[in-house]
Amino acid sequence: MSERRVRPRLRPSAEERADAGAAETARPGTIYPGDCVEVMRTWPDASFDACITDPPYNMSRRKGLKWAFSSHVTMDEQWDRFSNDDYFEFTRRWLLEVCRVVRANGNILVFGSFHNIYVIGFVLEHVLGRRVLQQITWFKPNAQPNITGRLPTESTEYIIWACNNTPEHAGKWTFDYARSKEIGGGKQLRNLWQIPCTPRSERRLGSHPSQKPVQLLERIVRLWTKPEDVILDCFLGTGTTAAAATQLGRRWVGIERDAGYIEIARKRLGAGA
Ligand SMILES: C[S@@+](CC[C@H](N)C(=O)[O-])C[C@H]1O[C@@H](n2cnc3c(N)ncnc32)[C@H](O)[C@@H]1O
Repeated sequence: MSERRVRPRLRPSAEERADAGAAETARPGTIYPGDCVEVMRTWPDASFDACITDPPYNMSRRKGLKWAFSSHVTMDEQWDRFSNDDYFEFTRRWLLEVCRVVRANGNILVFGSFHNIYVIGFVLEHVLGRRVLQQITWFKPNAQPNITGRLPTESTEYIIWACNNTPEHAGKWTFDYARSKEIGGGKQLRNLWQIPCTPRSERRLGSHPSQKPVQLLERIVRLWTKPEDVILDCFLGTGTTAAAATQLGRRWVGIERDAGYIEIARKRLGAGA
């Protein structure tokens, strides 16, 4: 068996450095169409208080699997399909830009499943040298059954939380501890959260195969940002982060490559959902 080597690039490339000094300011309340790395490169350093985002998981199969007992089909999306090396490089490039456009000590929260969460954590911690503070496990009590019948039902996703600074200098990050205790019923909130999958009512204006529930994003926005903060979601999808931010009096900026999902996000945000 041939040995595969991952050789992380620890510094920005010449092309990436040449983009430093970009000066187009991101406008809150805007969905920017296009590739997130290209869009972020047009913005100045430290434009955002936080980034909360849900990137492609690299879990799509060449052909989605389905079964007779449910309408569920496994992910089969072109935007979610990479070779392992390409996924690593994609992750390094977009997280490098996120770390540049989020202010020092701003929160970075990234969704993932077992397919990609190790890559996200490795890039944040070892390639970009950020302080990874914790991981939330989202348990979905109504997760879809396992179609193959050869594995336990996949019923968790994860959210990695990093502070945008080196381990030595990270500090003064935003986390509303008092509010987290209220959510925990007077006890310290645990990092295992039971929240059901996205309800149908949130898909009424159009749906996305990996749309997140508003309840989950509201909890994250409430605890990890402050009113008036500007939050970036560079993989906006149908706009769940923006919907939660609006509900809670935060400002947001989104980037999404797919025109169909932008359309759904605009409808949702226009309808206040
Ligand atoms: C996991 S989904 C986000 C779903 C979102 N959290 C929601 O609740 O609707 C990831 C999104 O990233 C978009 N995307 C993939 N690659 C992208 C890129 N390079 N730049 C911008 N958007 C991209 C996909 O079209 C997809 O909608």
